[in-house]
Amino acid sequence: MSQQGQETKKILVSPEQLDKRIVELGEQITAAYQGRKLIMVGVLNGAFIFAADLCRVIDIEVEIDFIRVASYGASTESSGSIRLLMEPKLDMTGKDVLIVEDIVDTGTTMAWLQEHFNQSGARSVKICSLIDKLERRAVSISVDYVGFTLDQGFLVGYGLDCAERFRNLPGIYSLDS
Ligand code: IMP
Ligand code: MG
Repeated sequence: MSQQGQETKKILVSPEQLDKRIVELGEQITAAYQGRKLIMVGVLNGAFIFAADLCRVIDIEVEIDFIRVASYGASTESSGSIRLLMEPKLDMTGKDVLIVEDIVDTGTTMAWLQEHFNQSGARSVKICSLIDKLERRAVSISVDYVGFTLDQGFLVGYGLDCAERFRNLPGIYSLDS
């Protein structure tokens, strides 16, 4: 149990489980991108910790950049519309883009991002999401690399927030509201 906040939080994925799974993802990605020009694009803010850990277990040359979009306000419901707040600086032309996301929920953000990078001149666009949360999927999307498939409610920790709180929890917790 974490000491942060008054809310009840149930641990779903421990730091040790995260470490182990991320090493496996790194091995898969390392094998898949041999001889390719990989650019990892982390989706801020939620993916900052995942991207930092994942890039260190990928054993090929990789460029790293970030994009910032907004879909959620301060609530736990998706607004359904995406706004681009910050573009990556790197040129994607001819590169193999791997979008690194914290969680795919309705799929709206990822469908938008995939289309965005498809138009950027990238050679390929794939998705790596730490969590694939299926229960509210509204847009059909195929996630190429998935850390964990989870269903249980609203998740916080390891980068995931609820109104900017709890990103620094070292594991993933479900928040009871
Ligand atoms: P989507 O567009 O509905 O797939 O939402 C994706 C974004 O919503 C993610 O990048 C997260 O930032 C946020 N989100 C969705 N579900 C959760 C959750 O359970 N906890 C924290 N953030 C979430
Ligand atoms: Mg996000």
